[in-house]
Amino acid sequence: MSLLQAATDVRLRAYAPYSRFLVGAALRSTAGATYVGCNVENVAYPEGTCAEAGAIAAMIAGGDTRIAEVFVIADSPDPVPPCGGCRQKIAEFADPSVKVTLCTTDGKQRTLTVAELLPGSFTAAHMDRA
Ligand code: THU
Repeated sequence: MSLLQAATDVRLRAYAPYSRFLVGAALRSTAGATYVGCNVENVAYPEGTCAEAGAIAAMIAGGDTRIAEVFVIADSPDPVPPCGGCRQKIAEFADPSVKVTLCTTDGKQRTLTVAELLPGSFTAAHMDRA
């Protein structure tokens, strides 16, 4: 199954009763496995989690640590970029050249690299622990 299809399918399982904005994310690890996630909201709003965070958690739980490609999909007029926190989360596990494709449910797509999504990112090198 394609990452686009996997993200499209998991989006329908999102728990988003407060925003009613369903998001699906699918990533392929460098080992070749596919992991998916959807947003999971909470009545205490800040406790909600994004689709990308769910997919990353599934990857780590599955025993993989590096991302090869990511797709994110939402029902928005234009492909919605990941939030700042998710950019940092993706950058933790992906090389700067990794492609992140943002999709709408009506077929629009925009592909950016991790470096484009998070220029000048904070890394372990900034703590001199690389
Ligand atoms: N959301 C995501 O899951 N990923 C994104 O890239 C953008 C925003 C979720 C968080 C929240 O549940 C809802 O969309 C509205 O912000």
